[in-house]
Amino acid sequence: MSTTKNQVPTVPPMRDLIEAMASRRAFIQAVAGTSAMAAFSEWPTAHAADKDERAATETLFQFRGIPTSSSDTVVVPDGYVAEVLYRWGDPIDGQSPAFKGDASNTAEDQERQAGMGHDGMEYFAIPGQDPNQRGLLAINHEYTDQVLLFPDGVDPLPPAKMPLEKVRKSKASHGVSIVEIAKDTQGRWSVVPSQRARRVTADTPARISGPATVKIGTSVRGTVNNCAAGRTPWQTYLTCEENFQSVFGTNVSDFQPSVTQKAYGLDRLGFFYKIDGNKVPAYRWWEQDPRFDLSDPNNDSERFGYVVEIDPMDPSSVPVKRTALGRFRHENAELTVAPDGRVVVYMGDDEVDQYVYKFVSEGKWDSKPSTTASGTSIQGLRVGDSILDRGKIYVARFDADGTGTWLELAPGINNIPKKLSEKDIEGFDEADICVRTREAAKIAGATPMDRPEWLSIHPRSREVYVSLTNNKSRHAADAANPRVQNIYGHIVRWKESDNDPTATRFQWQVFLFGGNPSHEDPAYRSNAKGDFFACPDGLKFDAAGTLWIQTDMSSSVIGKPGFEEIGHNMMLAANPSTGETRRFLTGPKGCEITGMAMTPDRKAMFINIQHPGEPADELSDAADPFKVSQWPDGPKGGRPRSATVVVRKLDGDVIGS
Ligand code: FEO
Ligand code: CA
Ligand code: CA
Repeated sequence: MSTTKNQVPTVPPMRDLIEAMASRRAFIQAVAGTSAMAAFSEWPTAHAADKDERAATETLFQFRGIPTSSSDTVVVPDGYVAEVLYRWGDPIDGQSPAFKGDASNTAEDQERQAGMGHDGMEYFAIPGQDPNQRGLLAINHEYTDQVLLFPDGVDPLPPAKMPLEKVRKSKASHGVSIVEIAKDTQGRWSVVPSQRARRVTADTPARISGPATVKIGTSVRGTVNNCAAGRTPWQTYLTCEENFQSVFGTNVSDFQPSVTQKAYGLDRLGFFYKIDGNKVPAYRWWEQDPRFDLSDPNNDSERFGYVVEIDPMDPSSVPVKRTALGRFRHENAELTVAPDGRVVVYMGDDEVDQYVYKFVSEGKWDSKPSTTASGTSIQGLRVGDSILDRGKIYVARFDADGTGTWLELAPGINNIPKKLSEKDIEGFDEADICVRTREAAKIAGATPMDRPEWLSIHPRSREVYVSLTNNKSRHAADAANPRVQNIYGHIVRWKESDNDPTATRFQWQVFLFGGNPSHEDPAYRSNAKGDFFACPDGLKFDAAGTLWIQTDMSSSVIGKPGFEEIGHNMMLAANPSTGETRRFLTGPKGCEITGMAMTPDRKAMFINIQHPGEPADELSDAADPFKVSQWPDGPKGGRPRSATVVVRKLDGDVIGS
């Protein structure tokens, strides 16, 4: 989902462009080591120069790349097929309640059906089952299109209250699906009946853990705006709360947000639609559920914005909000285990000029945890309690010389003032670090980035890659964000000192710039060797070391000036050693491509098509749901629906081979 409408990138007027160019030239003259602006540059000492790694990556992918697309379908290379697996409204047990194309399913139905806005996703093996034949998919549902969700669309402006049934259905469309899927003898995957199938919604009871509990308590209902995801080596799912500010608001007209609320974008309307020139709040959950009313002193806004751990194997397990990982607009959570057993989680905060973080656990993970007779279910979250609830959180500063520093966020460190008394609202204690994380990171001197989205770690080199999707409102270029008008986005990578993820120093460079490699203006030119793209968002290495890049150009720019040649949102394969890019999949009209998971044999790839049919102004039409797209089911489907698709090779071979 695009974060807000006012971040929509556009090609700037020529005067701005000239100013931006002058600034960029000055910057390039001032900063050494930014040759990546012009061409892909290899690491001086990293795996790219390693002979074995070169051999391993020479034949990373062999499919025939596809052209850009403006057709209303999912396109994959010759020899591949993309099949719809799990659409918004599909029942979690594969049977009932059935989806109704006029959106007349009730809130109760929705609680047993796929939510909207499919996003991050992970695939889990089921103990005792062949994971290449059967497994669990955990899928995030990021947000709701409040027009397509109901037969009569969005409700008129207050004073008429949002009906309770609509609020319930909207809350049930957020959260997570856990579904069991299986492959038939023809190689086709489907959702099957399962004791493990469940929905986690904005009303599911959850536990809060970690340092923030002294400030916000230990329980809350629900998780919302579940964007991207991650997983732990103890086989739990990490779902990340991103634009939680969108579901909070108030009808108190003179409401003024606090300093902390402002830092998180919490304000009166939440996410809104523009209808006939009026800003109409989209959700208005607060009219039926005071937890979401910012004027209520006990509102839940400080209980959202976290990484939430879920045990996919146990449908009765209670999701846990891990506050030690900080509170911000979490994109994904990329976890690795350091050589000494400590666990490191890399995370991005997706808003313009926000930061890249990492958490380093105090405890160490034993790769052979004892299992209970009842299986791994409670075990998984118990491991999380000991590993993800205590540790240090750091934020990244990218310096112009190509080095970087992880700045610890703690009271009394890196200029972060200690809290002097209960009444001191500027100082920080340990709980404040975990609730007011953005404020602490700013004080510490983190580098404001061009909207950090997903991070992914190379499976062999352990280098970390982050997508920076776009930013047109940067005041000045800096080394890690060298485009003042960064309408196409870029990808930065780094390696930690001594290749130890717990290190506090690193070396970094720009890996790829979005845009067209043949663009006449170097400020907009990409260094990609191969197929072009814009606005990288989803980013995930597969086990072979191919970096899969998924794009999220805002619906307002698709096909518009500066984006004419780029077509619809897409997914590409990239070779981290050579910088080669090859387009693998393109989506239908008005969608973004996000989320990727694979079976261990890499013969099935699961991809999410989010918000097909989203109009340029993000306001769908209840009277004409098919205005933009009829994907996935054509006229009989009733309306466009976010969906998980399975991509496989017709000859049954490994994806990419
Ligand atoms: Fe949910 Fe930043 O994408
Ligand atoms: Ca995203
Ligand atoms: Ca995005």
